[in-house]
Amino acid sequence: MSANGIHGKIKSIGELSSLLKGAKKARKTVVLCHGVFDLLHPGHIRHLFAAKRQGDLLIVTVTRDEFVNKGPGRPVFNQNLRAESIAALGCVDFVAVNDWPTAKETILRLKPDLYVKGQDYRDRKKDVTKGIRSEESAIRSVGGRIVFTEEPMMSSSRLLNEHFGVYPPAARDFLAKFSRGHAGDAMVSKLDGLKSLKVLAVGEAIVDEYHYCQAMGKSPKETIVSTRFVEEERFAGGILAAANHMAGFAGGVHLVTCLGTENSREGFIRERLKPGIRPKFFLRKGASTIIKRRFVDPAFLTKMFEVSYIDDKDLPRDLEDRMLEHLERELPKHDLVLVIDYGHGMIGPRTVDLLCRKAKYLAVNSQTNSANMGYNVITKYPRADYVCIDEPEIRLALRDRFGDIQDLARQVSKRMKTDITVVTRGHRGALAFSKDKGFVSIPVFSQTVVDRTGAGDAFLSVSALCAAAGYGADVAAFVGNAAGAMKVGTVCNRTAIEPVALAKYVTAMLK
Ligand SMILES: Nc1ncnc2c1ncn2[C@@H]1O[C@H](COP(=O)(O)OP(=O)(O)O)[C@@H](O)[C@H]1O
Ligand SMILES: [Mg+2]
Repeated sequence: MSANGIHGKIKSIGELSSLLKGAKKARKTVVLCHGVFDLLHPGHIRHLFAAKRQGDLLIVTVTRDEFVNKGPGRPVFNQNLRAESIAALGCVDFVAVNDWPTAKETILRLKPDLYVKGQDYRDRKKDVTKGIRSEESAIRSVGGRIVFTEEPMMSSSRLLNEHFGVYPPAARDFLAKFSRGHAGDAMVSKLDGLKSLKVLAVGEAIVDEYHYCQAMGKSPKETIVSTRFVEEERFAGGILAAANHMAGFAGGVHLVTCLGTENSREGFIRERLKPGIRPKFFLRKGASTIIKRRFVDPAFLTKMFEVSYIDDKDLPRDLEDRMLEHLERELPKHDLVLVIDYGHGMIGPRTVDLLCRKAKYLAVNSQTNSANMGYNVITKYPRADYVCIDEPEIRLALRDRFGDIQDLARQVSKRMKTDITVVTRGHRGALAFSKDKGFVSIPVFSQTVVDRTGAGDAFLSVSALCAAAGYGADVAAFVGNAAGAMKVGTVCNRTAIEPVALAKYVTAMLK
């Protein structure tokens, strides 16, 4: 077939819908197949030929790049290449790049007689997006039916994982081993199981601001680069981001945090909190809500300068009393208490003491940042069930710059009597330690880094849920690392870690 012949088969959904009217009049049976088809393989080809045998005209729609939800680096082949490859098959009559995330709308528009899927979709429960159910009701509503082909299954994800360098080499080796003990389906049920957890999130609320500024050049009079303002973006950061990461997974998140009466940003914050979060704000009189304003070069998201609006002295006594009373009441009602202590004054010794005594399962991170360098170390907590800190934080806490990282994790674990201790290591992934699993070292799953802000918090939030659910250090760290990989692919806290996206990423990795 000539290249033109291939391109002649590629249509828009609108074009297809008029074309099919003619076919219907001619009483032709129209068959629709839909999928990502990233790396066309013999399994697809057999599936499409089998689909064509069910009718007269085979239409295939491919998922748009923006809706391919299989983790960083995917799709490997863009929508035009994927459409072209499908169009090159003799059994296919027409191909379109789909306009929507699932085939539901497509089915309603094109009204095919048959919607054909591979046998892996026969068990509807296994489809993590639940798209298959809505597609099934769509095909029924237009008078058609769903058919499953019997061809043996193969997986683009598995082939790509093994042969196409989707993951860094160390991750590929790790996944090959890890997937022998952990099936994708089982991992997805585990993520589903997190719904049983009631979570209390405690820590400082931070509004992260990015002021995007383009460098113009050197000021003639000063030794500075002057910039032109482009636009501004605000994010719900700190514990607000953590609550958002957990909201999709847990069965409810109660958020306890402090705002200021100046620049309170309460409206913005409430609007950014996801459903399922019940917030309780304690207001510091005369102080600003913590705002971290960064001036950022938009081209590579390089941060040039930061200005913080912050009052990081200890909380006034009466405010602390009220917060302690509230926590005292709430602590016993929650299965997991997640504390991210940014060291900006909200969590003083009395709060630490109460959290450590009353939490059923306490997960803690104490951050080292420019405002608190050296003053806010994890060892200010006498105990915790789960500790997740980054490498500079554990080194600072133990005053050990060059010692063996496993030794340090073991020391924290012993001293704080943890169930699980995780040290996150930026581009080197993470190290988890627990008594029953020993050390588990997990390399990074993605080298696509857009922005590292909030990476550790995304890791902690999702992994703490797994730790509290009793899934073990290896599963907690694996899921945390997947959340970390997803987080570094987005700008600051623009989007939270979502269950469907994480489930798809995890299943693609464990194929
Ligand atoms: N450069 C990077 N490349 C890939 N993944 C990264 C990178 N930096 C962070 N991550 C992911 O985010 C996790 C937490 O990042 P880390 O930098 O250790 O914490 P923090 O943000 O608290 O300093 C890592 O364990 C990893 O999964
Ligand atoms: Mg951190």
